Amino acid sequence: MKKVLIIGGTGMVASRFVDLTKKILDITSIDEKTLDITDGIAVEKYLEKNKFDAVVNFAAFTNVDAAEKETGNEEGLTYRLNVLGPKNLAEYCNNNNTFLVHISTDFVFPGTEGQPGPYDEDAPLPETPTGIGWYGWTKNRAEVMIQSTSTDYAIVRYAYPFRAAPFELKSDWARGVIKLYEEKKLYPLFTDQTQSVIFIDDLVEPLVKIIDGKLNGVFHIASKDTTTPHEIASYLLEKYVGKPVELEKGLMAEFLKAPGRTPRPRVGGFKVEKTQAKLGVQFKTWKEMVDEFVSQLNKQ
Ligand SMILES: NC(=O)c1ccc[n+]([C@@H]2O[C@H](COP(=O)([O-])OP(=O)(O)OC[C@H]3O[C@@H](n4cnc5c(N)ncnc54)[C@H](OP(=O)(O)O)[C@@H]3O)[C@@H](O)[C@H]2O)c1
Repeated sequence: MKKVLIIGGTGMVASRFVDLTKKILDITSIDEKTLDITDGIAVEKYLEKNKFDAVVNFAAFTNVDAAEKETGNEEGLTYRLNVLGPKNLAEYCNNNNTFLVHISTDFVFPGTEGQPGPYDEDAPLPETPTGIGWYGWTKNRAEVMIQSTSTDYAIVRYAYPFRAAPFELKSDWARGVIKLYEEKKLYPLFTDQTQSVIFIDDLVEPLVKIIDGKLNGVFHIASKDTTTPHEIASYLLEKYVGKPVELEKGLMAEFLKAPGRTPRPRVGGFKVEKTQAKLGVQFKTWKEMVDEFVSQLNKQ
């Protein structure tokens, strides 16, 4: 069994991954209280004392709007956690023959009409932050740093994760849609945003393959097709309530024009063919992921 360190193990995505893999990997799951990855000396000390075959970094500053308030501030928590933390891990792993898996996001790309998705695994990363928010830019810079300093690494990108297993600390987009619908507070949903999604349980097989095989490169783990927020929420709610629902439609292009909005990919999403071929797996469609999500919710 591979000895694997999961950093950010109490987070929304990682905590589910850990629950589903603890019998197939020898996992140590930690959060900030055990190791603050922004502290380079602490990282070195911890990883010297506790040896692992692979280090998987899920930790990040993930509040996209809060991150935006720190734009340009390399002393701020967003930059320190999303760039310096991964740098500390990459330096240690590189010098000590340890495989590093770094978790990333579709937000590293602008998702604009000029540079549209769906992006494939080899799509060049933008070299300027134009059209990218501070969260996405810091995740972008971490990828560039890892690719230039590491020799034995995987960068794993996914987008719009959701889970049926309860998680108290924060709500994912799917739970949010159900809650707002039930409270009759659901706002108009975008019909002009292209997105991929990932049901978190479907991360397990591909991510374990990457960890077990120490597979290098950039991987996209996502639904094999793209959707829009309006389309996927309509399908999800129809399955959940058992009858078709009419949801109001909105335009993300209009939404993003309002002052103070955080830039986010509108014409985004991932291509996954190269990852599927490299791993020898077929990902589910977004409808199949939603079906499994609703089926698990109904059993709770
Ligand atoms: N959520 C999304 O929609 C989404 C989409 C695409 C990609 N991603 C990526 O997926 C990953 C996981 O996201 P998530 O939303 O599941 O995360 P999350 O729920 O926000 O959890 C973040 C984790 O990072 C840990 N952490 C915070 N500061 C730390 C520090 N200084 N040192 C070590 N650990 C620290 C937290 O531990 P404490 O609780 O102890 O602070 C927590 O375990 C991130 O890399 C994110 O960029 C997320």
